Amino acid sequence: MDTYNVLLIGAGGREHAIAWKLAQSEKLGQLFIAPGNPGTALYGKNVKLDVNDFEAVADFVNKSGVELVVVGPEDPLVNGITNFLRDRNIAVFGPEKNAARLEGSKEFAKEFMLKYNIPTADFAVFGSMDYDDALKFISLKDTYPIVLKADGLAAGKGVFICNSEEEVKERLLSIKKDKTLSEAASRLVVEEFMEGEEVSVFVISDGHTSHILHYAQDHKRIGDGDTGLNTGGMGAYSPAPVLNDELLEQIQLEIIDPTITGMQLEESAYTGILYVGLMITEDGPKVVEYNCRFGDPECQVILPSLNNDLLDLMIASTEQRLDEKSIQIDDKYRCCVVLASEGYPQKYEKRKVISGLNDIDDALIFHAGTAQIDGKIVSNGGRVLNVVSSGKTLRGAIDNTYDAVKKISFENCYYRKDIGHKGLKRVSNL
Ligand SMILES: Nc1ncnc2c1ncn2[C@@H]1O[C@H](COP(=O)(O)OP(=O)(O)O)[C@@H](O)[C@H]1O
Ligand SMILES: [Mg+2]
Repeated sequence: MDTYNVLLIGAGGREHAIAWKLAQSEKLGQLFIAPGNPGTALYGKNVKLDVNDFEAVADFVNKSGVELVVVGPEDPLVNGITNFLRDRNIAVFGPEKNAARLEGSKEFAKEFMLKYNIPTADFAVFGSMDYDDALKFISLKDTYPIVLKADGLAAGKGVFICNSEEEVKERLLSIKKDKTLSEAASRLVVEEFMEGEEVSVFVISDGHTSHILHYAQDHKRIGDGDTGLNTGGMGAYSPAPVLNDELLEQIQLEIIDPTITGMQLEESAYTGILYVGLMITEDGPKVVEYNCRFGDPECQVILPSLNNDLLDLMIASTEQRLDEKSIQIDDKYRCCVVLASEGYPQKYEKRKVISGLNDIDDALIFHAGTAQIDGKIVSNGGRVLNVVSSGKTLRGAIDNTYDAVKKISFENCYYRKDIGHKGLKRVSNL
């Protein structure tokens, strides 16, 4: 059988989960991860590469006999790594720059949804010089809450939900002043607030054929009960009982199919993973946003549920052969709890020795912000580890995950105690 040497780009828990899954493929030759983390090193060779230096990535690929590049995070995709490598005849799993605009520009995504009749919140777009017009528009509309969104990539820090005109004024001022937002907020999307429960659906596409892989719910806030500051994500569970087969079919017909066909018509065929962030409202599912890659930590609960060979699916996607494949998902629930450094998403300490990692037999541990120093694994970031376990019921999956969490320790370890709370509420109401 042909095997493929793969270069995986990224360094988080998502990439550890992808490396873990790729390593189970009979089709995998050598695996390289750039830059990777101590977790990915268990499945391949970590290489020091600046992944935003596309020339350096292409050189490494050619020198090392890499046959497929798999891109984890959004930045290189939005910046065109796929085009750069494909122009050099290197196969890449991940969308090209014009397709990644679905995540890279919220204005593009909203105009696209409007054009193709894909359900989403009503909106208007303003340039950075027209914040006064934005304010006028909002005060005329006079319905709160209202949502302000920076157009470009903002690492989760570009969305503001405002409850009054005063709050809108303050926000607009602070957005203007915030230098880290100046590029992303050069265009501003003003959006109707949607009431409902959120869920993320993950799709694999080859540009023509697409399949739903699975769906999950994440937990963005730092505190229990969804309180406090926004983070990269403190946990996830899957499947989320807010969806059922009927809703999934509706989402496929009204949202996913028109997205894939619309992108073809825009000459921006979408290949790779499409993350569809949804609000399940009284009027049915509506799109909150698109992302052009797996979510982190959602990936950590989705991939363990997938019975397919991931590498085989990725190759089929790059060769436009996804119509030959069908997706097999197991019948378990999964839960992921993120262990973070106390203080995250603000200031926190690093270099705390982690113990208990070898005492885990009934859970998966995916590394995020860790480092290996003198043979010891230490904390090296805000989000440190992901603990994932499964169960026949959601309750079982959650309990098994927290049992494993309790076996791991490091100084100043913080985690949410209520991952899956919305799902549990729904299950108990059935
Ligand atoms: N129109 C909306 N109505 C209600 N909540 C929203 C709306 N848009 C965004 N949100 C909330 O804000 C969060 C972040 O918005 P999103 O568009 O996903 O931006 P990003 O992930 O790029 O920061 C969403 O997960 C959701 O909780
Ligand atoms: Mg989001």
